[in-house]
Amino acid sequence: MSQTTFPAGFTWGVATSAQQVEGGRHEGGRGESIWDRFAARSGRITDGSTPDVTCDHYHRWALDISLMRELGLGAYRFSIAWPRIQPAGRGPANEAGLDFYDQLVDGLLAAGIEPFPTLYHWDLPQALQDEGGWFARDTAARFVDYAQAVAARLGDRVRRWTTHNEPWCAATLPYEEGHHAPGLREPATGLRAAHHLLLSHGWACVAIRALVPAAEVGIVLIHNPVFPLRDTPGDRDAARWFDGFFNRWYLDPLFRGAYPADAVADRAARGHLPGGGLTFVRDGDLEAIRAPLDFLGLNYYSRSLMTTGRDGRPVAAPPPPGAGVTDMGWEVYPDGLRQALVRVHRDYAPRRLYITENGAAWDDPPGPDGRIRDARRIAYLQGHLRAAAAALDEGVPLAGYFLWSLLDNFEWGYGFTKKFGLFAVDPVDRRRVPKDSAHWYAKVAATNVVGDDDPATSEGEPRAFDA
Ligand code: FCB
Repeated sequence: MSQTTFPAGFTWGVATSAQQVEGGRHEGGRGESIWDRFAARSGRITDGSTPDVTCDHYHRWALDISLMRELGLGAYRFSIAWPRIQPAGRGPANEAGLDFYDQLVDGLLAAGIEPFPTLYHWDLPQALQDEGGWFARDTAARFVDYAQAVAARLGDRVRRWTTHNEPWCAATLPYEEGHHAPGLREPATGLRAAHHLLLSHGWACVAIRALVPAAEVGIVLIHNPVFPLRDTPGDRDAARWFDGFFNRWYLDPLFRGAYPADAVADRAARGHLPGGGLTFVRDGDLEAIRAPLDFLGLNYYSRSLMTTGRDGRPVAAPPPPGAGVTDMGWEVYPDGLRQALVRVHRDYAPRRLYITENGAAWDDPPGPDGRIRDARRIAYLQGHLRAAAAALDEGVPLAGYFLWSLLDNFEWGYGFTKKFGLFAVDPVDRRRVPKDSAHWYAKVAATNVVGDDDPATSEGEPRAFDA
């Protein structure tokens, strides 16, 4: 395989989220989030852990910036914790919370790294959940107040803003499937929640642009290319079903101003739309959701293969025999990244695209010499970056790539059992330990080239990483 070169000016970054890395649970006046409550009380975190301290980024942000500088990154995608800014989800902004992000942004800019914040990465203030959470339309209005408080403080230095991370995950996993906070299993609430997330996005786009005229505003969606397992009418329909449920339910209103009719019919037939239709959509909502986007972020981890269960309903098939899988059980399918980018570009034509998350969980313990040889992660990144370059060759306006994640962190319901980081984090003293992939990624960021070196022996240029 030959070398793959990315264009000059391509942005290399890493992504994290506040709930997963910050800790500082009770500091700076921070309020309780739905994840604080869920982790402490639900019994549904695999290792029984909480995100109270996690990577302690709240105190070690300057160290983490120095790691990113060593990596030679151009941008850092982080999220802002709503409960730091409005501890109870409403009312005047908490100055100490704003101060934290203020210093983070200044530190990034001083290091030559663009701050690329996401306003909502799932840490809803618990007080708003007590009033219905995203099921309540009022939460969309509360989100706009919060977005305004942040934009007013950081807008003189932050240019690119992301409203939401993966509204599918923020609506379906917490409200329909119960895996995520607040842990409800009420399918009839999910689509209403999704609508309010999208509505809050549309309203926030207008509010941010009013405060920060030079702002570029976007949203991040998870995207899986979907395929029928077998070439049968049933499996083809199952693939259509899942694509509507997972991908088009968000892309269509954002880019076309309408929910996909086939998917609406699917969900109504299952009784997931009380009243039989989109009773929660009011006049003007779809126009608001369709606010022009400056960019779209896609998070890509895998594809979906769909088939039909015994009851005839669509079900996800396991990865094909022999396929590589990560510790999440997700099939390693690099070309899916190219397919996702090409499909979204062809069908929805966003002005610009970023890969806002891509990465893999594998647990590679240190060798006797202390070195973490995560050759599988390097091979994964090589494959996916080649796929991204192929999408660029096909004309996709792809501007950057954010690797998930800088650090091993609190992986939601899996606690600390799934390790996505370029750096391991010592569970006791929180020391950051670079994996081979960190050295490898630094070389990519420095050269814009994905080499054909053997992942098992590759460690890039050794760097200090003064962790
Ligand atoms: C994405 C989330 C991110 C992380 C990765 C593994 O869906 O946005 O927070 O959990 O998956």
